[in-house]
Amino acid sequence: MNGELIKVQGLKKFFYLRTGVFSSAAKPVKALDGLTFGVGRGETAGVVGESGCGKTTLARIILGLETPTEGSVLIDGMNPFDVKGAQRRALRRKVGVVFQSPQASLNPRATIGQSLLRPLILHGYDMASALEMIGRVSSSVNLGRDLAERYPHQLSGGQQQRACIARALLLSPEIMLLDEPTSALDVSVQAQIINVLLDLQRDMGLTYIFISHDLNLVRAMSDRIIVLYMGLIMEEGPAEDVFNSPAHPYTRALMNSSPPFTPRRSRADENAARDLIRGEPPSLIDLPPGCRFQPRCPQARDKCSNSRPEPQQVAPNRLASCFFAGNS
Ligand SMILES: Nc1ncnc2c1ncn2[C@@H]1O[C@H](COP(=O)(O)OP(=O)(O)O)[C@@H](O)[C@H]1O
Ligand code: SF4
Ligand SMILES: [Mg+2]
Repeated sequence: MNGELIKVQGLKKFFYLRTGVFSSAAKPVKALDGLTFGVGRGETAGVVGESGCGKTTLARIILGLETPTEGSVLIDGMNPFDVKGAQRRALRRKVGVVFQSPQASLNPRATIGQSLLRPLILHGYDMASALEMIGRVSSSVNLGRDLAERYPHQLSGGQQQRACIARALLLSPEIMLLDEPTSALDVSVQAQIINVLLDLQRDMGLTYIFISHDLNLVRAMSDRIIVLYMGLIMEEGPAEDVFNSPAHPYTRALMNSSPPFTPRRSRADENAARDLIRGEPPSLIDLPPGCRFQPRCPQARDKCSNSRPEPQQVAPNRLASCFFAGNS
């Protein structure tokens, strides 16, 4: 690891919801409840967990789109919520983002060329430099020049997502936040996008935060894996170690629910496998007093209902938040 480019420290995000029309009391939805981790320069950190565990909230805070309730995010030593003016603009350029749905991310009334041109003109580039930059990023994601004249609906899902990746790369970011970038795509196209992302990282030395509900997909992309459950880190460590010997019961459950990542796996395989983790996560408003995974955990014992396990080191460079980590 070449130094930590992203440092997340004690990060909490609570959303306050009114409990009833006549009630003034607001109860928090604890979307993130104290995350601490770092991401090295050039590294891929895979963030994995079921829907609703806080993945997008984490991405939005790193992007500066949500303010933390507590804790901090430092990008190259700078807190996006402290810096102002030119420093803030420089920090914004450091982070590119690709979301799940390319269709929702692209303006349906603009051609792909117009969508790529806009951020560059807004950042003050002249037309000749902007066109040169667009040509360069388009070829780096295998997006043909002929597609620039087309509207999003005239492109396939894979082409749309490559256009979104190109747009994220325009301002030469150091970090790419990839929030379920292949989840809305046909399974056959997923591998194509993964390969584009891996090539880009190799060629440009980018740092990735790759977010997905699918542990097998995260493994294919990541150096380190961070397993999130209900706003807390359940397990963290080198991807191969976590995958080969998961220390936390939740990681094991996720593994059982993720079909192997191959270009041939079907949507039906994915849907069937996703149902394998028994039960639903409890409400983020009325949290269980002990371990958050206790109501669904096959290894749960009495102690698990009363107190919450803190992250503990289970091997060099590996943490797990379970009283009985490693005992399957
Ligand atoms: N703006 C918001 N207001 C209230 N609750 C929110 C808001 N954004 C997210 N949440 C809640 O926070 C939790 C985490 O959401 P999210 O980060 O989108 O999860 P994920 O991306 O892992 O599916 C969910 O329970 C979600 O309903
Ligand atoms: S602390 Fe207990 S309930 Fe929580 S994951 Fe470990 S064994 Fe399961
Ligand atoms: Mg999400």
